[in-house]
Amino acid sequence: MEIVPSLLSADFIRLQEEIRAVEAAGARRLHLDIMDGHFVPNITIGPFIVEAIRKITQLHLESHLMITNPEKFIEPYIKAGSDTVGIHVESSGDVLRDFDTIRRLGAKPGLVINPPTPFEKIETYLEFTEHLLVMTVNPGFGGQTMIKEAFAKVRLAKPYSRKYGFPIEIDGGVNIETVVDAKLAGVDLIVAGSAVFSAGKPYDNFLALTEKLQSA
Ligand code: DX5
Ligand code: ZN
Repeated sequence: MEIVPSLLSADFIRLQEEIRAVEAAGARRLHLDIMDGHFVPNITIGPFIVEAIRKITQLHLESHLMITNPEKFIEPYIKAGSDTVGIHVESSGDVLRDFDTIRRLGAKPGLVINPPTPFEKIETYLEFTEHLLVMTVNPGFGGQTMIKEAFAKVRLAKPYSRKYGFPIEIDGGVNIETVVDAKLAGVDLIVAGSAVFSAGKPYDNFLALTEKLQSA
């Protein structure tokens, strides 16, 4: 079980220092929130920013595509250096086709599900995915309150995760208290954006969240 810093709440003027801080604290992955102002009401990271990040870090880069027509942008985000590409079940017109495209281009496919979407919508895709991201907020912004009802989907996905070997990640509303809920739900990866970067001490914050996870 590990914390995955989301750069959404990082200081982008000092992005390299922010990344170095979480690397030094032990982060092994970075979560990149890709928003298009259409699927979600916010615009964030284009492929050229991912490319710039790729040049300065060896960490596993997971790109969380919160975009309409994700199939159009799989290739640019993989060429930019993404290791895992997550596709929302709510935005993909053909999940298995998108998974195939991602694999063919040399990255790992991930499936993402929003809080209001029922587990049944993803069930048939689970044997084909290499990563499952269960949203614990409605995507679009950092710093929201965790929707704990979403953990029910983590529990439903656990047998599939064990059978097929993919990790389960949650995303949204993680802080020093709610990180314990994520641990109890049995997730493998825990995205934390504002809890790592907003207070300006990403090294300390990452360590505090990790210690809480270990001691809880
Ligand atoms: C929400 C994003 C999250 C976000 C989490 O749309 O998908 O990855 O960065 O931010 P916090 O951890 O602040 O809830
Ligand atoms: Zn995200």
